[in-house]
Amino acid sequence: MEYSGKLVVFEGPDGAGKTTQVKLAAERLQKMGYSVVMTREPGGTRLSEEIRQLLLDPANREMSPVTEALLYAGARSQLVAEVILPALASGKIVLCDRFVDSSLAYQGFGRGLDLEMLRQVNRFALDRLGRFCTILLDLPPEEGLERGKKREKDRLEQEDISFHRRVWEGYHFLIKEYPERIRVVDASSQPEIVHQQVWKHLSAFINGSDQGGVF
Ligand code: TYD
Repeated sequence: MEYSGKLVVFEGPDGAGKTTQVKLAAERLQKMGYSVVMTREPGGTRLSEEIRQLLLDPANREMSPVTEALLYAGARSQLVAEVILPALASGKIVLCDRFVDSSLAYQGFGRGLDLEMLRQVNRFALDRLGRFCTILLDLPPEEGLERGKKREKDRLEQEDISFHRRVWEGYHFLIKEYPERIRVVDASSQPEIVHQQVWKHLSAFINGSDQGGVF
């Protein structure tokens, strides 16, 4: 699809600081005069936020892995149609907290679902979306879980450490699968230092010196 906007996705294990980095990047872009849309997954539209409740509620213990994968893809499809594609068509910069790589890492590697099947379902959900850039905030799962210890855990965060280790290994597999699209940043430092690294990749994508890649 041809559009003038750009999509930048922030990925990483739970506790890597994605939300903070999305905000820092958005503030900097806005100061430069860019029109920025900040959103998150699962969520970002009324319907997708409702699906989010279903997905993250620890009471929904009986949810099967396939149902989980399809609900994430459903929430995503609505976000793409309602928010992301229109924003890109009108030239905006969209910053998204998690996106399709989360499904490959969590449902593919964490739950062990077939990667090719997940790719197909998610290609369907992404519709006409073209090139984008994924910034992976890399942090070992033990450190991420330690950072998030104080909060109440959602259904996925409650999974054991071996699940989160597989998710992390999944992200590292994806770095090799999508070298054009995924840029890795060490997320273990202070937020400002992480931001400088994020900015290096993000600005290269915005100014076109880095073309990003497709899913
Ligand atoms: P997130 O909103 O990042 O959680 P928090 O704000 O509490 O850090 O994501 C919620 C959870 O959903 C997170 O544990 C990762 C998981 N997830 C998947 O398993 N698959 C997906 O496709 C997405 C987008 C998220």
